[in-house]
Amino acid sequence: MPILVTGGAGYIGSHTVLSLLEKGYDVVVLDNHSNSSYESLRRIESLTGRNVIYYEGDVSDRLLLKRIFKDNKVKQIIHFAGLKSVSESVVLPLKYYENNVMASIVLIEEMIANNIFELIFSSSATVYGNPADIPLKEISKVGGTTNPYGTSKLMVEHILNDVAKSCPQMDITILRYFNPAGAHSSGLIGEDPNGIPCNLVPYISQVAVGKLPKLSVYGHDYPTHDGTGVRDYIHVMDLAEGHVAALQHKASRSNCRTYNLGTGKGYSVLDLIAAFERQSNTNIPYEFVERRAGDVAECWANPDLARQELKWSATRGLDEMMRDAWNWQQKNPDGYKI
Ligand code: NAD
Ligand code: UD1
Repeated sequence: MPILVTGGAGYIGSHTVLSLLEKGYDVVVLDNHSNSSYESLRRIESLTGRNVIYYEGDVSDRLLLKRIFKDNKVKQIIHFAGLKSVSESVVLPLKYYENNVMASIVLIEEMIANNIFELIFSSSATVYGNPADIPLKEISKVGGTTNPYGTSKLMVEHILNDVAKSCPQMDITILRYFNPAGAHSSGLIGEDPNGIPCNLVPYISQVAVGKLPKLSVYGHDYPTHDGTGVRDYIHVMDLAEGHVAALQHKASRSNCRTYNLGTGKGYSVLDLIAAFERQSNTNIPYEFVERRAGDVAECWANPDLARQELKWSATRGLDEMMRDAWNWQQKNPDGYKI
């Protein structure tokens, strides 16, 4: 029975589709290409020698969902499809609530109507807001999100918890990702941001390849070991494998379970620059600028629950992440645009 992967052409979705195919699963992808191209799927097919069943369309399209469910006998869904720009969400909040929350409601309604009960949802460490107790556990306080993107993720988490209570057949896994980075070691698939990247690793990569002149380091007066922000960077292939582990996990504890997917280690912006320079043999020019609004000093996971229950933990370190990010960037300076 194939797995439906919404948003499967995007950054994390494409790496997960690759992992699923390599593990022998059949995969159906639904993507509207608002932030991706078909090229990622084409490359996955050539890497694995396997076929991906593909539908171009929107998660909120009920008729399309019904057709996909009927044609493919789907029983499990991984729901990556969503918009993820923090800054855009501040300017266009309704776009985020419509795309991330309303489309998720349509998907859940159609799942239940079509007797599909297994769902894995992409959430984010952003739901912890300004974290009080580091490292973050799943039971740490959530809320205090500072932008509509983060709030949309928290809203869907609440909705899923309520649906699970009202519908005992549901089997829901909420995965809170920390900071995904890197790419598949082939350098054929990776992160392809639209325009100037907002996130650190794609920005450094574009400086390294000469597309951007220098990195602005947001703040160097944080209470961290070198004054710059500390995050839990996780290799995107570790993250992908976390989804496979969640899919294989047969749960009894609860029919809606939440897991942190992180490494449990925090690295600063300066640590990242140094690791990237080591791996790429380049020099990353940077300057210290003001803190970015909404940023927190430090944020990293306690990943014990995923290790205990999903039997999963991240195995790739910072150097491997930076090596693979650089390999992807070098081989694809313009991303998937050919
Ligand atoms: P991405 O933008 O690369 O991938 C998302 C994919 O979903 C894209 O291919 C896009 O075209 C598609 N999509 C968006 N809305 C859709 C809709 N309504 N119908 C069909 N397709 C739609 O992003 P990503 O980094 O791969 O993130 C995947 C998920 O993980 C998102 O939900 C994101 O919020 C979440 N997440 C990402 C990060 C991160 O740092 N990348 C961190 C935490 C959580
Ligand atoms: C950001 C989002 C978060 C989202 C996550 C993954 C904000 C406030 N948070 O997290 O909601 O879930 O991306 O998409 O945008 N940095 C620089 N210079 C840069 C870029 C980043 O110094 O040009 C620093 C930041 O201050 C931070 C670290 O690098 O300390 C990581 O930043 P980033 O990659 O944007 O991720 P987050 O801020 O953790």
